[in-house]
Amino acid sequence: MGSFSSGRFNAVTVAQTFVASRLREGDVAVDATAGNGHDTVFLARRVGAAGRVYAVDVQAEAVEATRRRLAEERLDERVVLRRGGHESLATVFPEIRKRTVAAVMFNLGYLPGGDKTLTTRPDTTLAGLSGALECLAPRGLLAVVCYPGHPGGSDESSRVTAWAESLPSSEWRVLIGRFASGGNKTPFPAIVNRAG
Ligand SMILES: C[S@@+](CC[C@H](N)C(=O)[O-])C[C@H]1O[C@@H](n2cnc3c(N)ncnc32)[C@H](O)[C@@H]1O
Repeated sequence: MGSFSSGRFNAVTVAQTFVASRLREGDVAVDATAGNGHDTVFLARRVGAAGRVYAVDVQAEAVEATRRRLAEERLDERVVLRRGGHESLATVFPEIRKRTVAAVMFNLGYLPGGDKTLTTRPDTTLAGLSGALECLAPRGLLAVVCYPGHPGGSDESSRVTAWAESLPSSEWRVLIGRFASGGNKTPFPAIVNRAG
């Protein structure tokens, strides 16, 4: 896991730090953008052998990269990894029951090292985020890393922010992180926490 102690923090380490503070051994977690598997490995370590991580990516290349990484780390037994779209979370993972998931992570943008034109898209991202909220347990946490810097990323980031800010405050606490340096292309975290 990236952490504050490893140097300068960034959007990913902030998101992971929030998620780490919420996850306990035996928890259920979701990685909605598996990519190269870094977040899936992070989640699998946090939930322990008794826990379960559901990881999805729309690209075969990403699913394969994540599968390899999990095998290298000997974490594959605690992860259910499937190819699909996070906008159809309930179809991809029918075994996930509503209000049972401790944490969900979205890391938006393109697959590092892959095709940069295949990015997450606002409509599917927002559908995925709404589905993720339905899965969240009481006090569950949704962590989104937004990348305004890539083509289309600025619009996606704005829509994620507007969506998060529109959630009813009676049920959701929302934190949108903004870095004071680096300009408006700097990746930032959005954290949503369900009330207990
Ligand atoms: C920034 S990368 C994720 C990085 C990853 N979390 C990691 O730790 O390596 C974004 C990923 O989102 C995936 N993606 C794009 N649209 C998607 C969708 N509708 N459903 C699921 N994954 C999607 C891309 O294929 C890409 O692998």
